[in-house]
Amino acid sequence: MGSDANRFLNRARMSTTNDYYFQYKGCNFVSTIYTKEHLEQLEHFQIHDTDVFIVTYPKSGTIWMQQIISLIYSDGDPTAVQSKPAYERVPWIEVPSSNFPARPSPRLNVTHLPYHLVPKALKEKKGKIIYVARNPKDVLVSSYYFHMHLALYESPKDFPDFFEKFIDGRVEFSCWFDHIREWYAHKDEFNFLFLTYEEMKKGLRASVQKICNFVGRELDDEKLDSVMEHCRFDIMKKNPMANYEGIPKKSSDGAFLRKGTIGDWKSHFTVAQSEMFDRIFQERMKDVPLEFIWDKE
Ligand code: A3P
Repeated sequence: MGSDANRFLNRARMSTTNDYYFQYKGCNFVSTIYTKEHLEQLEHFQIHDTDVFIVTYPKSGTIWMQQIISLIYSDGDPTAVQSKPAYERVPWIEVPSSNFPARPSPRLNVTHLPYHLVPKALKEKKGKIIYVARNPKDVLVSSYYFHMHLALYESPKDFPDFFEKFIDGRVEFSCWFDHIREWYAHKDEFNFLFLTYEEMKKGLRASVQKICNFVGRELDDEKLDSVMEHCRFDIMKKNPMANYEGIPKKSSDGAFLRKGTIGDWKSHFTVAQSEMFDRIFQERMKDVPLEFIWDKE
């Protein structure tokens, strides 16, 4: 076991979940939110051609995509995004109360599930999947603050401790590397669009256009302008419907929409942590033919 990657992998295999999480088919779920019964049923849900699924590892820009997809389907009309919380407009299928089977078409959904736990019917190329990935270093930092902020989560002891947990996959939905590797390896089984947080930050209009083409919605320039306006970070931050207001917080410090930037990891990682992360990244992602556009330095 010479390399950091092997050392971390081994520890991850040995690590057990505590009462806070339960494991279902190799993936960690927060016990207070999810149930095994629902996860079992989910695999057999029927899928319609008009279903859309946003798939992300947590903290990769999920709520941003929920906002974008809501606005695309309302032709840029902001009424729904201003009056209904994101989790009602685009619910998580893995949350037992999501009422997925009974919702009318087109069903807009979101999930953090790994590839092997989504409804099997999706592999008949019914429905559409939009996978959003983000630089895992920024995901780690965003996740650290999220755990500090929301009452739902166990507070991290400190950043170095959370860093290790994240790399080991001792967090909800387990390991970032496994999530993206599995999904990307099987992408051809689905109607699949792959996007990154970074490309959305650098060229949102082009990304929104790509999504419209993928889901088959045509928006003229005026409607597209409205989508762009209402999914801006500063506008969303002021919108309680895009901020999980109402979900218990540990304190009034912090926010769900925290910074919304690329590269915040640079103010949090030590040089040693960054180098270690890069080595593990190289090892775990070496056979994944993905070109990430995020900065390494
Ligand atoms: P930060 O914590 O780095 O600010 P998720 O929805 O998957 O939990 O991801 C949350 C992250 O996406 C947070 O990152 C949040 O600020 C960022 N985000 C949400 N809306 C955004 C937007 N409109 N533009 C850019 N980033 C956004």
